[in-house]
Amino acid sequence: MALLGRSTARWLAAALAASSLLPAAQAQFYKIGTTDEIKESARTLAYDLMTQYKGNLSGETPGILPGPPTEHKGDYYWWEGGAMMGTYIDYWHLTGDPSYNHVIEQGMLHQTGPNFDYMPPNHTASLGNDDQGFWGLSAMLAAENKFPNPPEDKPQWLALAQGVFYTQAHEDRHDQTCGGGLRWQVPPTNIGYDYKNTIANACFFDLGARLARYTRNDTYAKWAEKTFQWLWDVQYIDNTDWRVYDGSHVQNNCTVILKAQFSYNAALLLHGAAFMYNYTESDVWKMRIDNLILGIKRDFFELGIAFELPCEGRQGACTADMLSFKGYVHRWLAVVTQLAPYTKPALLPMLRTSTEAAVKQCTGGASGRQCGFYWTTGAYVDVAVDKTSGAGEQMDVLAAVSSLLIEEADPPATELSGGISKGDVNAGERGGFNPDPLPPITAADKAGAGILTAFTLAGGSALWYVMNTGL
Ligand SMILES: *[C@@H]1O[C@H](CO)[C@@H](O)[C@H](O)[C@H]1NC(C)=O
Ligand SMILES: *[C@@H]1O[C@H](CO)[C@@H](O)[C@H](O)[C@H]1NC(C)=O
Ligand SMILES: *[C@@H]1O[C@H](CO)[C@@H](O)[C@H](O)[C@H]1NC(C)=O
Ligand SMILES: *[C@@H]1O[C@H](CO)[C@@H](O)[C@H](O)[C@H]1NC(C)=O
Ligand SMILES: *[C@@H]1O[C@H](CO)[C@@H](O)[C@H](O)[C@H]1NC(C)=O
Repeated sequence: MALLGRSTARWLAAALAASSLLPAAQAQFYKIGTTDEIKESARTLAYDLMTQYKGNLSGETPGILPGPPTEHKGDYYWWEGGAMMGTYIDYWHLTGDPSYNHVIEQGMLHQTGPNFDYMPPNHTASLGNDDQGFWGLSAMLAAENKFPNPPEDKPQWLALAQGVFYTQAHEDRHDQTCGGGLRWQVPPTNIGYDYKNTIANACFFDLGARLARYTRNDTYAKWAEKTFQWLWDVQYIDNTDWRVYDGSHVQNNCTVILKAQFSYNAALLLHGAAFMYNYTESDVWKMRIDNLILGIKRDFFELGIAFELPCEGRQGACTADMLSFKGYVHRWLAVVTQLAPYTKPALLPMLRTSTEAAVKQCTGGASGRQCGFYWTTGAYVDVAVDKTSGAGEQMDVLAAVSSLLIEEADPPATELSGGISKGDVNAGERGGFNPDPLPPITAADKAGAGILTAFTLAGGSALWYVMNTGL
C-alpha cells in the first residue's frame, strides 16, 4: 500500500489554496520577531481560542469543548478538551500569563471522574485508552510545569497521572493478542476494541517515561521500555525507515497494518523517548531519538513547515481531531530540546520556520486574525471553502507561537528538582478497568468516540482507498 505521495499532497495543497476564495491579501496580524511580540501574539491567540470554550459558563460542563459530534452538540470529542487544558498549562508555563489558570484548574478537576483516573461516567461508555491518556498527559504536564496545586482536599496532578497509568497498566487492559500492547478502546463492546493502535500505546509509553523521570520509580520505566519495544516488534514503527503507522486489528495478530502516518504518533514517541533518554542517559534511547527526528523531518516537515501528511491537501479530509495535531507536535518537539539539548540545532530552527508560516496564514474572519490549517501555503482558506478554522487550528498556532519561548522556560520538573505536586502510588486502585471482560464486539454507535482511527475502521473506506492508492 503506497501512501499519498508527499509531492502529490503538496500539489493538492497548492491547488486548493489557489482555487479558494482568498480575500485580497490580508495584512499579517501576528508578529513573532521578539520575545515581547511572541508573548503578545500568544496572548491574543489564547484569548481567541478561549472564546470557543464554553465550559466555564453557567449551565455548561467544565473541561470540554462543544461536543461530542455523536450527540450533535458540537465538533469536539471529550479528549480534545483535555488536550486544550494541556495547551494552556504550557501557555502559562511559557509566557507567565496566569489569566486562564482558574478555568484550566476547574476543567481538569471536573473531568477526573469519581476514582480520580479520568474515567468520568459521562465518557466511560465511549472511552479509548488514548482519550483517557490525553487527560493523563495534561495532569502530568501540570506536575512537571509546577502548575498551581489544587486545594488539598482535591486530587493532585501527579496522583491523577498515576491514576491513569495504574488503570492502563492493569492486567485487564493487557492481553496476549499481537504479543501485548493496549487496545484502542476500553469497553469491549465498542467498535475499535479489536484494534491495537499506536496512539493508545504512545500515550501510555509517554506517561510511563515521564512518571519514571519525575518519581525515579523504575517500574514506570520498565513499562515504557516494554511498550516501545512492542510497537517496534509489531512494526507500527517501521523497522527500516522509522515511519510510524496507525495500528492493526487483533484478528490478524496485528500483521495487516493500516499505514496512515499521523504526525502526533511519531512526535509523542519522540517526546517519550526524550524523557527515557534523560532518565537513563542511554545510547539506545539516543539512537531512537535520532531516528524518530529524521523520520519526522522527512515526513511532516518536508518544507520545514508542519504538514499533516495523511489528510492535508485534500479538502475536508482532516477531521476535527486531526486538525489539532500540529499543536501537539510543536509543543512536544520543543520539550525534546530541553530533555536532550543536543537536539536543539535539529529542531529549534525548524520549529521557528514552521511557526512563521503558521502565523502568516492567520488573517481570516472578521477579526482579520483567525487561523486556518494550511501552513505551507501561507494563505488562510475561508471557512466557507474548507471548514478549517476551529479550536484545533487555533490551538495549533497558539502552541507553535508559545513554544518559541522554550529556551527561556524551565525544563519539566521532577520530585528532586523542585516538583511540588504530591503523588499517590495507590492512585487509580479504586477504579474499574474494563467494565466487562470478553463480551462480543457489537456494532454499537461508539465508533466516532475515539481520537482518530474511526475512518481507518468501518467508515471511510473510500477515503482509505484514496489515501492508499494515491488517488
Ligand atoms: C470564563 O473564563 C473567561 C476567561 O478567563 C472569563 O473571561 C470569563 O469571565 C469566565 N466566565 C465565568 C462565568 O466565569
Ligand atoms: C455529565 O453530562 C451531563 C449532561 O451533559 C452534564 O450536565 C454533567 O455536568 C456532566 N458531568 C460531568 C461530571 O461532567
Ligand atoms: C502474534 O504476534 C506477536 C508479536 O508480533 C508474535 O510474537 C506472535 O508469535 C504472533 N502469534 C502468532 C500465532 O502468529
Ligand atoms: C513504584 O510504582 C509502582 C507502580 O505504580 C508501585 O506499585 C510501587 O509501589 C512504586 N514503588 C515505590 C518505591 O514507590
Ligand atoms: C536532562 O534534562 C536536563 C534539563 O533540561 C538537562 O539539563 C540535561 O542536560 C538532560 N540530560 C541529558 C543527558 O541530555
